[in-house]
Amino acid sequence: MTKSLIAFCACLVSKKVMMNIPWAKPYIGREEFENVKECFEAGWLTMGPKVKQLEARMSQLIQSKYPVALHSGTAALDLALKLLGVGPDDEVIIPGLSYIATGNSVLYQRATPVFADIDPESYTLDATDVAKKITKKTKAIIPIDYAGQASDFDALREVTKGMGIALLEDGAPGLGGEYKGRPLCGIGDIGITSFHMAKTFTSIEGGMLFTNDEQAAYQSRVFRSQGENPEVKYDHPIMGHNYRMTDLNAAIALGQFGRWEQVLSKRSLLAQRYSEGFKQVSALKTPVTKAYNKHGWFLYPVLVERFDRNQVVQSLKEAGIGTNVSWPKPIYEQKPFQPYFKEVNPVSKNFTDKVICLPLYFEMTEDEQNYVINTLCKILSK
Ligand SMILES: Cc1ncc(COP(=O)(O)O)c(C=O)c1O
Repeated sequence: MTKSLIAFCACLVSKKVMMNIPWAKPYIGREEFENVKECFEAGWLTMGPKVKQLEARMSQLIQSKYPVALHSGTAALDLALKLLGVGPDDEVIIPGLSYIATGNSVLYQRATPVFADIDPESYTLDATDVAKKITKKTKAIIPIDYAGQASDFDALREVTKGMGIALLEDGAPGLGGEYKGRPLCGIGDIGITSFHMAKTFTSIEGGMLFTNDEQAAYQSRVFRSQGENPEVKYDHPIMGHNYRMTDLNAAIALGQFGRWEQVLSKRSLLAQRYSEGFKQVSALKTPVTKAYNKHGWFLYPVLVERFDRNQVVQSLKEAGIGTNVSWPKPIYEQKPFQPYFKEVNPVSKNFTDKVICLPLYFEMTEDEQNYVINTLCKILSK
């Protein structure tokens, strides 16, 4: 064989094994397209009948009486804290392992964020550490359903008993998970979720607030629409925002929720296969599901022991495998939160140093997943 032919064959071989696998891949199907088409045919694109339908569907799925659709999860967090009456003299406890929006929602109220550590197995807010952080000023606690599983809400309720402290469930990653048989996002005194493009179920951008309190739901609807009196156009009894979701976004989400069971069982299968594939790999800590939880598997986070996480991420990238680092540092290390820093949350710190979230999406094939498992095992065997 000539040299160039050998090079050509080598290239073919390498092409064959090289894949391009993203960490997340939204699945937008025919139903979404048909729903959007209906909006155009009906001539109604802003908030209207599709938003109402989406709220009704989510009420069923989450077993929440009054879901309120909004344009993002961040808007939902902001609104939830306003409904709870959080203000400048209050403290709000959030996990050290927090997304920036969770913390920002506290700063929007000019309240003080206080950081509590996470449980080393579920990576969600640890009630024992929360108990140490409660003061007379604590007004609310925001447990995050990290990766798709819940904090121990009963333990959180126990340590806050009789103190008038509200639990705001940040269920942005929580859809599909359950706590003691109840759907996530509906476990807290008030809850929220996000339908951002990377989430398990998407409206492209979007969010929702969940409450069982009729008055809070009414106020939320007034607030999301510029504080306008629903009975009298251009009468604004309170200062609100434009936090509305459009019917186009709701139409997409309605398509997504049509395949709720299918999507969740596929993600659960993928998570199971990962855990099986990495069973013998001592350099990896795979996720643990608490006995009281059903995992929603928004993320499959592994901790790399004894290796430099960023180098592992880079090696995976070179092999065509996308990953996500959620999140690369505890929130109190982010600039806007540094003034509120008091002490390290050691479990959160260790987690953020070592975490890699592996590819997980509805259409992921067995070949793609085997490639991820084999490539990562190879990297960690060096
Ligand atoms: C834990 C958490 N809270 C809140 C949000 C904010 O949601 P959105 O991007 O829809 O504003 C996210 C988004 O990823 C999140 O992960």
